[in-house]
Amino acid sequence: MEKLVIHGGRPLKGVLQVSGSKNAALPIMFASILVDSPMHYSNVPRLRDIQTTIKLLNILGCKAERGDDGDIVVAPGSLAPEAPYDLVKTMRASVLVLGPLLARLGRARVALPGGCAIGARPVDQHLKALEKMGAVFDLAEGYIEGRCKALHGADITFDIPTVGGTENLLMAASLARGETILRNAAREPEIVDLARCLNACGAKISGQGSDVIHIQGVERLHGCSYRVMPDRIEAGTFLVAAAITRGEVLIKDCPVAELAATLAKLREMGLTMEIGDDWVRVLPAGRLRGVDAATRPHPGFPTDMQAQIMALMTLAEGSSSIEETIFENRFMHVPELNRMGADIRLSSGKALVRGVDALAGAPVMASDLRASASLVIAGLAAKGVTEVQRIYHLDRGYECIEEKLRAAGADIIRASSAL
Ligand code: EPZ
Repeated sequence: MEKLVIHGGRPLKGVLQVSGSKNAALPIMFASILVDSPMHYSNVPRLRDIQTTIKLLNILGCKAERGDDGDIVVAPGSLAPEAPYDLVKTMRASVLVLGPLLARLGRARVALPGGCAIGARPVDQHLKALEKMGAVFDLAEGYIEGRCKALHGADITFDIPTVGGTENLLMAASLARGETILRNAAREPEIVDLARCLNACGAKISGQGSDVIHIQGVERLHGCSYRVMPDRIEAGTFLVAAAITRGEVLIKDCPVAELAATLAKLREMGLTMEIGDDWVRVLPAGRLRGVDAATRPHPGFPTDMQAQIMALMTLAEGSSSIEETIFENRFMHVPELNRMGADIRLSSGKALVRGVDALAGAPVMASDLRASASLVIAGLAAKGVTEVQRIYHLDRGYECIEEKLRAAGADIIRASSAL
């Protein structure tokens, strides 16, 4: 196992470069199952989840590999229908092969993705919507077994705006017979990026980014070259790291338009920023103000930024509150932050944060991807040494985070750990 060792209290200075988006790259790579000629992807981050996706695509019969230039090429092959449990259990997003396999092969056997630290994370919306398009499912031995003669278009209303459900259905409907309408669709920017990629392959999708998406099914989809959008959550994480260390940082390749809610909340806390089209310069902050926030589906404040902004709130003037409305158990970082001297109390889905004057470094345990990021951020500001254990969680979603932060002045190293 590995840990990060952080000597806190140093303001970040210089440049932080944002990598490609994990949550856009995953569905966009699974879209390669739909096409009948090679896909060429650029700006794909070097993450564990991307490695897992490459492995899964090869198991399914595609030929996926990352070239020396860092780009990923996926060539079509004769497809197999099964996504095995030992892969799916490490990456829930594997369920996104369901729609493409049904569309291309007429069958799929995908291990039911278990829950994870942040919640049960069912996939009932994916299955209900695909059934409306003609798929039939059985659940056997922990696997979803789906089959269909051919998928046909349908008018589908999701009970909740599910990101993965919208992505699965976008991919399935692209090759279905007739028109599909997705209502109460999720509006996340990663969905817009997926739709842009599918349209570049010949799909006919419109309305992406709104809550009603129209897809005209086509006979076939061809490969294309596609550059994945920058990661808005990595960018938001860097904004908070710069703010909490009272540093001055230029964040490059920053998807400003997709970060409006996060930027607004940071401004409300009193952070001063210069904002360009694809960059943000954070200026040295004084003590920020406590605020209230609630996570919402896009374009609201993102749940994937909840843990990070909470770390910032722990040192703000006065009190803050943050309500998590998307996942039922996404406060695993709270006890760890409190071990560093934060003053956070939980009550019915809300975290009540009282600002303290300083955090103290401590050994802490990562539990999930964004909780890990929150602990790193707190460690950058804390007095003394923070050791973040189990950073394999972090490596799922952040490319070389300690190298990027060290280049911006942080005293942070990766070390082996017994835990
Ligand atoms: C995506 O997960 C992201 N993952 C998550 O990012 C992100 O937190 C989430 O969207 C919300 O924005 C990827 O894109 C790979 P949902 P997803 O389906 O698709 C419930 C990170 O840190 N639900 O929008 O799984 C579900 O339980 C990760 O990068 C159902 O009830 O999210 C949750 O409460 C974490 N039934 C809510 O909807 C369903 O069929 C939102 O889930 C599907 C979802």
